[in-house]
Amino acid sequence: MKIFLDTANIEEIKKGVEYGIVNGVTTNPSLISRENQGFLPLIKEITSIVPGPVSVEVTAKNFEEMIEQAKTYAKISENVVIKVPINMEGLKVIKKLSDLNIKTNTTLIFSSSQALLAAKAGASYVSPFVGRIDDISGDGMGLVQEIIQIFDNYSIETEIIVASVRHPLHFVQSALMGADIATVPFSTLSKLLNHPLTDIGMEKFLKDWEKVEK
Ligand code: E4P
Repeated sequence: MKIFLDTANIEEIKKGVEYGIVNGVTTNPSLISRENQGFLPLIKEITSIVPGPVSVEVTAKNFEEMIEQAKTYAKISENVVIKVPINMEGLKVIKKLSDLNIKTNTTLIFSSSQALLAAKAGASYVSPFVGRIDDISGDGMGLVQEIIQIFDNYSIETEIIVASVRHPLHFVQSALMGADIATVPFSTLSKLLNHPLTDIGMEKFLKDWEKVEK
């Protein structure tokens, strides 16, 4: 499973890339708004650090304006992927960008029918938001399982990015189900590594090492 970082924070992205486990980055307007930097220079900097896809979301509502934004963002770097919301205009945008060989990540996916339509329109990625579904007492990971099954049934190549990941269990379940990618906030990435028995074990080894004649 590939790991994307769900952040627009340069320091977090640099650290994640240094760890050697980050394959890409997803941003959204809310994440961008937390950074005190101009939007386009920030995206340019992110694409120069990350060795893989960087999702950048269009914010216009109609087809023409979304295409215009997408073309501008796609020019920033080869690894820019255009994030498009799932709705009627969004489907048209996905089709057009796919014809132009510009990669798309369909965002705000909350049902498997939305994922299937996005894939049929030519989306490179679909992003089911599991945490937000769990927030309203739904089954976010159940949705991921459904999309995996449907894509397998028809050998659909669109990749599934498990998004709105809130905790390590979402990550582990994504891997068990065979999701292509999980996009995780930096705080969750750190939690994936922690284990109290590792810390206790390390402390004991170092204490015992002090007793050894050197
Ligand atoms: C991913 O592409 C989304 O930007 C993100 O995962 C949304 O997460 P949230 O529901 O925690 O805002």
